[in-house]
Amino acid sequence: MKKDLFQPASTCRLWMLGLFVFIAANTQAQPTSITLDLTKPGASVSPMLYGLMTEEINHSYDGGLYAELIRNRIFKDNPTRPEGWSLVQDDSAGSKATIKLIAANPDNVPFDERRHAINGALQTCLRLTVEKAGSRVGVANEGYWGIPVRPGTTYKASFYIKGSGSFQPPRRPGAQQPAQPAGSQIEDNTAGPLTVTIESPDGKTVYAKGTIDLAKSIFWKKYELSLTTGTDVKPTADARFVISTNRTGLYYFNLVSLFPPTYKDRPNGNRPDLMKMMVDMKPRFLRFPGGNFLEGPLITDAFPWKTTLGPLENRPGHRGSWSYRPSDGMGLLEFLLWCEDIGAEPVLAVYAGYSLNGDHIDAGPLLKPWVDDALEEIEYVTGDAKTLWGARRAADGHPAPFKLKYIEVGNEDWFDRTNSYDGRFNQFRTAIEAKYPQLVCISSIADAQYPNLKVTTGKKPAVLDEHYYRNSWAMWENASQYDSYDRKGPKIFVGEWATREGAPTTNLNAALGDAAWMTGMERNSDIVIMSCYAPLFVNVNTATAAMPRAWQWDSDLIGYNALSSFGSPSYYVQKIFSDYLGDKIVPATAENIPTQTRPLTRRDSVDNITPKPVPMVFYAATRDQKTGAIYLKLVNTTGKQQPVEINLKGAAKVSGDATLVVIKGDKPEDTNTIRDPEKIVPVTQKITGVSPTFTRTLDPYSVNILQLQAGK
Ligand code: AHR
Repeated sequence: MKKDLFQPASTCRLWMLGLFVFIAANTQAQPTSITLDLTKPGASVSPMLYGLMTEEINHSYDGGLYAELIRNRIFKDNPTRPEGWSLVQDDSAGSKATIKLIAANPDNVPFDERRHAINGALQTCLRLTVEKAGSRVGVANEGYWGIPVRPGTTYKASFYIKGSGSFQPPRRPGAQQPAQPAGSQIEDNTAGPLTVTIESPDGKTVYAKGTIDLAKSIFWKKYELSLTTGTDVKPTADARFVISTNRTGLYYFNLVSLFPPTYKDRPNGNRPDLMKMMVDMKPRFLRFPGGNFLEGPLITDAFPWKTTLGPLENRPGHRGSWSYRPSDGMGLLEFLLWCEDIGAEPVLAVYAGYSLNGDHIDAGPLLKPWVDDALEEIEYVTGDAKTLWGARRAADGHPAPFKLKYIEVGNEDWFDRTNSYDGRFNQFRTAIEAKYPQLVCISSIADAQYPNLKVTTGKKPAVLDEHYYRNSWAMWENASQYDSYDRKGPKIFVGEWATREGAPTTNLNAALGDAAWMTGMERNSDIVIMSCYAPLFVNVNTATAAMPRAWQWDSDLIGYNALSSFGSPSYYVQKIFSDYLGDKIVPATAENIPTQTRPLTRRDSVDNITPKPVPMVFYAATRDQKTGAIYLKLVNTTGKQQPVEINLKGAAKVSGDATLVVIKGDKPEDTNTIRDPEKIVPVTQKITGVSPTFTRTLDPYSVNILQLQAGK
């Protein structure tokens, strides 16, 4: 009876349990699947898709790629103190010495100080006054957070110096002269040997040593020497550069320089490790010189390409945009040589009359000099040696013109909400296209981002530059934004973007945001013709007692200190996406991609936002027409394994073997650092069992590239 009574209930329970199991099984039975349609020819992948963007930020050049080791070599970094320099006085009891910045240009400095300028660019120098000589006195430079020392390495040192203790230049009638020149009471013993060393900060360990013989002269003279470290020294960045004497007098220094070996041994060249990291990325272009660095804080601080040319003696540097003064050792020609060395095409940004403080120059006659300046700059890059600026380039050492197709007019001109860009862009484009019809002008305002600030004068810009700095959720949410862009154009240059998580370099979660975003660009690379991550470089040194930390912008691609460098997880994503790229897009569709919704933030309720569910898995595929290789990129943004069924529709012959490249980690916060540079790196393996339909289980937090071989 009891049994009977319970019969219906238990039947019901069993039935419900069965239904639950059925639903659960059925849910699991709906596999995530991605179908690559090999029957349809896809659009072409832009041959310029992946490139690099650079500017002087985070000590990208000075204290970064540009191999110069002396900080503040022309003493202009700080008008009040000789930043980076200090007095060396080993025998404090016996010697009496001081150092002083001598700024020659301001009108209000005494005549005695003004007479120490070398030329219009080198107007500030450092004076070492040795009143009483002890065993050793001198000047030390700390470099950019240390001078890197490596075994068996030759460094090229050079500097301008003059010693003029009590020397009185002959007085001409009426000439302005100080009654009592500085140091006239100090005995001038400056002529003679000076010692030049790379040594430990306490001076106890000397890594490399040389001497110069200082002539007795009141005139500036350049001295050069080589310093070679022993083969047994241990690499360190904890070193300084010192020029010292043991004789009394006044010593004046300017343009003090120390170069380690450079990439391809170029004089005034670049750090080999950083160059190699870029070469490994196979970038198709380099966008330079900025970024904010192009514009400068004020109109007068725009990138002064003309004073970045020629001998270092003629480069005064200028006020940068990121809180330190660029030396401009990385000048226009050095940018172009950098492109040449990494096999990238220049994408030249020209100043377009808008600066960071919000000032702009209206289109019309006032803007004309700037337009002319841009035309001259383009001539320097592309003109043959018979043109004025092409001849200047040839004289600077590069007779052959550089290849150039894209000119970006300004940077982020959307900041000028008065829409002055409309007229400015049109004036630049009209003049550039009239002289150089082969060039394409890129607008620095994107319709999608700033619909109210469109360029409406003249024809529509052919290419728009969009910038996106977002967190990973926003990257995942917007990864398919280009799927719905108008195929008729304009084309899109994603000229700056990054998933900003992790500092100073990005972490794994940022790399998962980047990779998802890149699948969206790659799938749409008929319209997205160029993409470059920003910022590219960061010096990762933290603050010292004397200097602030080296970087101004968090979440960067490549980190370094004076001695070593490393790629962030984002760097490796850029590298493998560029490495494994076909020339045709393979149309792909997906089913049952699981979704997730980000946690609510306080801001959401203020802004009345309900977060949208975002996919957990992202994908894109391209094919190399010549080799038949298919590159399928799959991103699993979650901490769980994700099985994905892959269908190769229309593939007649599929090789059972494939190559898999994976970047993955245990936690979203995992990252690479100077101490642990290879925690997250791509791992390549062979896999088997590939067929027209097969399942691949993606590891948690992973970016995967499958290189498949299939014939139609
Ligand atoms: O990449 C850092 C800065 O971000 C760039 O200088 C500027 O263009 C953007 O606002």
